[in-house]
Amino acid sequence: MAGRKRPISSSSAAPAAEQPPTESKPPMTNDPPPKLAEILKVFLPFFAAYLYLILYHYKIESQLRRSILINVAISAAGFLVTLRMIPVASRYLLKANLFGYDINKRGTPQGSVKVTESLGIVVGLVYYVVAVLFQYFNLTADSIWLVEYNAALATICFMILLGFVDDVLDVPWRVKLVLPSVAALPLLMAYAGHTTILIPKPLVPIVGLEILDLGWIYKLYMGLLAVFCTNSINIHAGLNGLEVGQSVVIACAILIHNVMQIGASGNSEYQQAHAFSIYIIQPFLATSLALLSYNWYPSSVFVGDTYTYFAGMTMAVAGILGHFSETLLIFFLPQVLNFLLSLFQLLGFVPCPRHRLPKFDPQTGLLTGTDDGTLVNLFLRQFGRMSEKSLCIKLLIFQAAACGFCFFLRWILTGWYK
Ligand code: UD1
Ligand code: MG
Repeated sequence: MAGRKRPISSSSAAPAAEQPPTESKPPMTNDPPPKLAEILKVFLPFFAAYLYLILYHYKIESQLRRSILINVAISAAGFLVTLRMIPVASRYLLKANLFGYDINKRGTPQGSVKVTESLGIVVGLVYYVVAVLFQYFNLTADSIWLVEYNAALATICFMILLGFVDDVLDVPWRVKLVLPSVAALPLLMAYAGHTTILIPKPLVPIVGLEILDLGWIYKLYMGLLAVFCTNSINIHAGLNGLEVGQSVVIACAILIHNVMQIGASGNSEYQQAHAFSIYIIQPFLATSLALLSYNWYPSSVFVGDTYTYFAGMTMAVAGILGHFSETLLIFFLPQVLNFLLSLFQLLGFVPCPRHRLPKFDPQTGLLTGTDDGTLVNLFLRQFGRMSEKSLCIKLLIFQAAACGFCFFLRWILTGWYK
């Protein structure tokens, strides 16, 4: 939260650490967000294709299909509620001094406007209510899923709380690293699923086993996955629309993957695991789209660490309980690259400024890459100077390409790898 406690500074940008004039944005109205049409134009074709897969392309058992569609319907309600609540919450957050300045507009009038922070809290709360209500429509009281579903929700809710705590208190970033492992505890403790992994076929002769039971190491792996997913989204950030945009692209890929797996398998336990992951991701995607329509360039709200942690944790939980963590990590390829590029700065071998963002030129409105180790800067160094919006679009296309690559890889390796 830049307004209350974070001076805007960056080693790469001009050393202007003073606060810009505290002129606030005109209050948000209850009109639909100006970027809603732009977002829906891109999303609706995906949604149509997704519905086609569920309704016609794959033969999905009718009870399961019904649950998925009920979840779609209440997610859509969550989308509308989030759209309505963001302007309301924004006014309260601004009053509480939770705002930041848009660093990539510094030196222009837009750079001195207070932009409300932490709108992830609205998305998180609406998501939580939708996900809790969904149990009424789907899970019976004796369902074995009930325990894990609620443990997953407890973990996500705990993460929303800790993300918001981080936004308010601005905890040192090494402490940020451990917050997700604390939040993951409810899920790790309640997890009663299998702790075995399938050994890849080419390695079976070497290992001498087809299935390996990892026991507690599997739980450790789950915890580490949660830490990675949350932090990797949080550090691939700082451009209008990038935090939510990347999460929306990955969420779409997770949904397609789950539907394909349900369609391809006849095993009901396997199908349930993927359906479970769908129930977790659909409301997340719907509420995130509402946020994106306010956060897309030029942002009228920032998402805060509340959102980045919530998003990373929700996708990690979906991957863990859907048993597709390897696939998830390939969907996260840009985040893995960004993490590797960041390693020297994160480990302290190279100085790490508070913000590792590009350099903005107020005359041309273009961004130039700096030496900070991020994918954002790498793209700028490779493809040259460009505007914030087109850089964000390129990064999101790269994210979609990584997901496409993952589907291709799965297709090539099916039958050979596992
Ligand atoms: C992470 C990154 C940091 C990056 C920041 C941007 C690491 C180790 N940390 O820190 O380099 O600068 O995210 O989110 O890689 N902001 C914008 N435009 C945006 C989004 C955010 O200018 O589109 C600025 C605003 O001033 C906002 C602040 O970033 O207030 C939020 O930063 P925060 O999420 O608290 O930073 P970190 O997650 O700690
Ligand atoms: Mg952040």
